[in-house]
Amino acid sequence: IHNLGDENSILNTFISEIRDKHIQKDAMRFRRNIERIGEVLGYEVSKELEYTVKNVTTPLGHKSMNLSQDQVVICSILRAGLPLHQGLLNYFDNAENGFISAFRKHEGDEDDFEVIVDYFAAPSLEGKVLILTDPMLATGRTLENVLEGLKKHGTPKQIHIVSVIGSQQGIDFIENIFPQNTHLWISAIDPELNARGYIIPGIGDAGDLAYG
Ligand code: PRP
Repeated sequence: IHNLGDENSILNTFISEIRDKHIQKDAMRFRRNIERIGEVLGYEVSKELEYTVKNVTTPLGHKSMNLSQDQVVICSILRAGLPLHQGLLNYFDNAENGFISAFRKHEGDEDDFEVIVDYFAAPSLEGKVLILTDPMLATGRTLENVLEGLKKHGTPKQIHIVSVIGSQQGIDFIENIFPQNTHLWISAIDPELNARGYIIPGIGDAGDLAYG
């Protein structure tokens, strides 16, 4: 688990703006901040890829450089995963892409819900680097269902879960069911999860803030 919010960096500014109840009302800035967090976390993920020496020809000579040939697949959980997805795609130019829908279906009480994974479109993951994005990791149940569903699509050589904010409880839960070679990259971990499954103090509902 890599909590990039533990270090002081420009990331703090992006996170403070998505948390701030006045600033977060600007949906365009909210989406752009999530996208920028995706760019920063994507850069960190890139350090874990496999690199081989390649020769680059400049106008005046040659230069050997370490470049990654890994095939990256970015899979995002709708809706709130979309701006994070774009941030990652800004850096992984040749990534393949998958989209997954998940929503909480309430049975009576607000706190009684199951997670329904409905639309699931993803390329083969066999031997590839999977980056799975969802900005919020609250109970961790969405991610649990999605990781299960992805098994049908092959075994990736690495899995990188990229998230913006999580609850400590959700992270403890998900850590126990991680497949091998899984990393979690996250920009904030908050202490509480309330009875309705919301992260406290959190940011509110990322899907609604980004898309209404
Ligand atoms: C949010 C969020 C995650 C999920 C996390 O989605 O984007 O997908 O909840 O919760 P969990 O860890 O408890 O499973 P939401 O249901 O609000 O859908 P939306 O993004 O389409 O608004």
